[in-house]
Amino acid sequence: ARDIHLAVVAGDGIGTEVVEQGLLVLDAALAGSGVGVSTTDFDLGARRWHATGETLTDTDLDAIRTHDAILLGAIGDPSVPSGVLERGLLLKLRFALDHYVNLRPGKLFPGVASPLAHPGDVDFVVVREGTEGPYVGNGGAIRVGTPHEVANEVSVNTAFGVERVVRDAFARAAARPRKKLTLVHKHNVLVHAGHLWRRTVEAVNAEFPDVTVDYLHVDAATIFLVTNPSRFDVIVTDNLFGDILTDLAAAITGGIGLAASANINPDRTAPSMFEPVHGSAPDIAGQGKADPTATVLSVALLLDHLGLHTQAKAVEDAVAADLAGRGSAERVRSTAEVGKDLAARVAG
Ligand code: IPM
Ligand code: MN
Repeated sequence: ARDIHLAVVAGDGIGTEVVEQGLLVLDAALAGSGVGVSTTDFDLGARRWHATGETLTDTDLDAIRTHDAILLGAIGDPSVPSGVLERGLLLKLRFALDHYVNLRPGKLFPGVASPLAHPGDVDFVVVREGTEGPYVGNGGAIRVGTPHEVANEVSVNTAFGVERVVRDAFARAAARPRKKLTLVHKHNVLVHAGHLWRRTVEAVNAEFPDVTVDYLHVDAATIFLVTNPSRFDVIVTDNLFGDILTDLAAAITGGIGLAASANINPDRTAPSMFEPVHGSAPDIAGQGKADPTATVLSVALLLDHLGLHTQAKAVEDAVAADLAGRGSAERVRSTAEVGKDLAARVAG
């Protein structure tokens, strides 16, 4: 086994705090496996932008490309105008590295409190398209600031882009016990894109005959995520619907402090990127209060992606055990304490 060359983008706010713990757990998971980790830190985010005006240069991108994977903490700061780092850094990484599968598990671990009275057995995964939709920046505004302003954000959906993410979602569904795929869209209104998604799902279903398919409009999907989340197994949806649904998924499975994600390039033409769903949380940054669990679960997704399934399982098991014990804990632990406890559990 060869060493993992990991690009680390700790980023802003609590990003640096949670990434430190993620790396600690990664080291613990790999101890004795013969696989080492070497990390390269990339200074990206608000500090860099203030100092140089740069978000992500071609030189940064080329350097990142030479790595096996990326671990990202969080990007964004109130001192930077909205959209600058989101578009110029985070989305640029996802687009440039062709992260067309944005994988976001929605799993309610035993012992974790859900705001739902009767959540049931919640264990689904959202396959959110990562490179198209309204996120591409295809749009524009005219007569800005006047009563006659027109502002357009065009959602781009290509046959190529839809088919490749749908095929990935089918493959994931086929590998799960329930083998169920739910397409979420809004084809009663968004007729052009909606029908492309629907036709594509129908066509690709022929390659995966044992996968059961159903369909929900996105508004109805939000109802079922609250009233009957256990009905979901794999959800496939576009970039924006996926963004919104996965925050709701996080809310019903214990909150954003536990929600992990993987931005995957399934063709492996560039490194995939692993990041907690939460943001930089400037309100609690620097206080050692952030829960590093979402990052640690993202590390498990990273290990899985690199084929280190035993180690990935060990990390997830450690998180499960830690979460199961939280209800009876006498106090809330700091970021570093949670990281240390998880690393100790992983080390066994
Ligand atoms: C997420 C975030 C990003 C997104 C933002 C920060 C651009 O909300 O990762 O879910 O919309 O994808
Ligand atoms: Mn989001």
